[in-house]
Amino acid sequence: MDPIQLFFPTFRVEETLAEIRECLERGWTGLGFKTVEFEEAWKRYTGLPHAHFLSSATAGLHLAIRLLKERDGWREGDEVISTPLTFVATNHAILYERLRPVFADVDDYLCLDPLSVAARITARTRAVMFVGMGGNSGQLPELVRLCRERGLRLILDAAHMAGTRWQGRHVGGEADAAVFSFQAVKNLPTADAGMICFADGELDAEARQWTWLGISKDTYSRTVGHEAYKWRYDVEHEGFKYHGNSIMAAMGLIALKYLDQDNAYRRQLASWYDALLGDEICRVPVAPGCESSRHLYQVLVEPRDHVMLALNGQQIYPGVHYRDNTLYGMYAYARETCPRSLEASSRLISLPLHLKLSYADVSRVSEALKQTVHRL
Ligand SMILES: Cc1ncc(COP(=O)(O)O)c(C=O)c1O
Repeated sequence: MDPIQLFFPTFRVEETLAEIRECLERGWTGLGFKTVEFEEAWKRYTGLPHAHFLSSATAGLHLAIRLLKERDGWREGDEVISTPLTFVATNHAILYERLRPVFADVDDYLCLDPLSVAARITARTRAVMFVGMGGNSGQLPELVRLCRERGLRLILDAAHMAGTRWQGRHVGGEADAAVFSFQAVKNLPTADAGMICFADGELDAEARQWTWLGISKDTYSRTVGHEAYKWRYDVEHEGFKYHGNSIMAAMGLIALKYLDQDNAYRRQLASWYDALLGDEICRVPVAPGCESSRHLYQVLVEPRDHVMLALNGQQIYPGVHYRDNTLYGMYAYARETCPRSLEASSRLISLPLHLKLSYADVSRVSEALKQTVHRL
């Protein structure tokens, strides 16, 4: 029996190599050239007004926090409401700027619950960080309304959401900043990359300096442009080295061509799981109106760790997204504040979901899961 892994990135190898070859032949692998092409392609695809290509989504989340903090004059210790049920990058980004993550609980979609968020707002709350778990938009529209009413910024951690639409429109435009991940196992895989999409054009322009060490002119425009005194750029602030490069952008440009087709197949796999698991296994639903990218297919089982080990014994290797972050030492200050997240964290399994899987594979996983759950 072949092992069935949680993730397995699919690359269109020859097409991707041809795109990378262009960079190598042109002698331009860094910032500019393909990164500009990819930003334009992403804007055309999503309909979002701005997009800046980055080395990772982690960089993007930090940048979103940093630039909104600068713009609005947030102070150290101000609060950002976030979810404990996420990859730690989401919450680390808040701490990078010496702000305080305040955790709100999750709903049935494993996304932030607007009622819990509303209950955690204080005079020091500045923003809400919403994670579209597994590609699900959850109750994002309610969160948008709440943030507008209460004058809070909204950052969308859209790491799982490449290709997710809500009521037919790509997600991202409703937030002050949306951050997508193109890391190796995501729906649009490169090796490591991300995209930040600010709603505000001025923040997008500022972000370009912040991702290139505060330098006012990037090397590419200085090289291809005709202006005099190209070497006389200014450096207005420290900035970071967060921009993406042309090799990753070349990979992204090809992956983008297939994203909708790939996501449609992911949704097909998910509907096979739905049908095969039936009512026997508790599944995490997709929110109404959401066409999910289906980065994940999550179920809730007990006793989770035993189920995982039993599946591993049958060469099936699911994952866990995620351990509640308050179980980690650094976020333990908020332990027990979000009971639904904590409970989900002990029962969650992400079933194998990638483009190499067939109906037979989904069937094998589903049968093994049902039998294991009945036996334990
Ligand atoms: C929810 C979430 N946020 C942020 C990230 C960080 O993305 P990246 O690896 O591109 O920095 C990830 C990556 O796994 C993620 O799952």
